[in-house]
Amino acid sequence: METNTQNILDFFELANHYPSPHNGQPIEVKQLGPNAFELYFQKERGLQAAEVSFLFSYVTMGVFIYHLSLCAEALGHEMSYELQLPPVASLKGNGAVKFASCKVNFATIKPDEALRKTLLFRQTSRKKYSEGLDAALSQRTIAIAAEKHMQLVKMNRPDTHQAIWLNQRAVFDDMFDDAVRQELNHWLRYSKGEKETKRDGLAYDCMELNGRAMKFIVNHYKILHWPIVNNLLKKYYLRTMSDNSDAFYLLTPFSTEQEAYDVGVAVMQIWQTIAAKGYYLHPFGTIMSNVAAHDDFLKLAHIDHEDRSKNFLVFIYRAGKSDPPHSSLRIPIKDHLLRRQSV
Ligand SMILES: Cc1cc2nc3c(=O)[nH]c(=O)nc-3n(C[C@H](O)[C@H](O)[C@H](O)COP(=O)(O)O)c2cc1C
Repeated sequence: METNTQNILDFFELANHYPSPHNGQPIEVKQLGPNAFELYFQKERGLQAAEVSFLFSYVTMGVFIYHLSLCAEALGHEMSYELQLPPVASLKGNGAVKFASCKVNFATIKPDEALRKTLLFRQTSRKKYSEGLDAALSQRTIAIAAEKHMQLVKMNRPDTHQAIWLNQRAVFDDMFDDAVRQELNHWLRYSKGEKETKRDGLAYDCMELNGRAMKFIVNHYKILHWPIVNNLLKKYYLRTMSDNSDAFYLLTPFSTEQEAYDVGVAVMQIWQTIAAKGYYLHPFGTIMSNVAAHDDFLKLAHIDHEDRSKNFLVFIYRAGKSDPPHSSLRIPIKDHLLRRQSV
């Protein structure tokens, strides 16, 4: 196979590991020439049920481009890009929208094998964490945010446990919102067969849940308000109390497409930094999108004057060490990420 073709395949094979909400894998690439590519966001693969999800699509674009630049560095390619972020209104509905062009000069710099390994190690872990981040690493991530004029705050352990509960509660509350529940159901993968056939979405094992129980809850969500079930939920809550992760939250302006994109870049940079040291991360996106949970989190964190143009709560996550999580699968590059081209 021609070297450039192999380089392209290897590059996008690594890029295909990028994280995306619900593992929707919304990015597609179109090749314009041997080194030139356009990047598209496929709307059906983004989230649309909550209004804030549209702006969050730019977070995914930022995550993807920063991740792509790391893939280039890891494999010894020089990459440059130009953003062409579309207006947020164009993200509604179906179809693909272009958001960037990039150039890759293959095999022009020294590859970084440690970085390649970090990109393969990086995962979402929804398991119980045995320890949080070490102090120096926490400081490093806070500094990454500060360099971008964003405020990353580490929570104390009791507040971390409250945040874990708020996230859990928000996931259950969201079941009572028809549009959000239907969207979740669309992306949940309830069995090994479904996970391996579709290779996208949120698989039961990655969610640390029993597939049948998960399906039962989605189909009978009203039982979540039954007292007996409530007690079980409390038990689940008490189990998470022994979790030793550290929760963090990120405050920054979040009203324009560019601001949301910048959040994605910051998130990916933080994720890579902790993955390089063997730590995992678990985003609490539901707290951001569920209005009641968002408000309760503001109270918990004593954020009195949240303002979209100054200090909006854009990302909450827990981080630390856990057993290796189950792998979230990806659609083969030729069937999705690169389906617009003929390599
Ligand atoms: C912007 C963003 C938001 C996310 N929000 C959540 C979330 O709310 N809850 C969750 O469990 N995972 C969340 N994730 C993690 C994705 O579900 C995960 O990246 C995807 O399933 C692929 O799995 P991997 O990260 O292990 O490769 C989020 C990821 C991104 C990039």
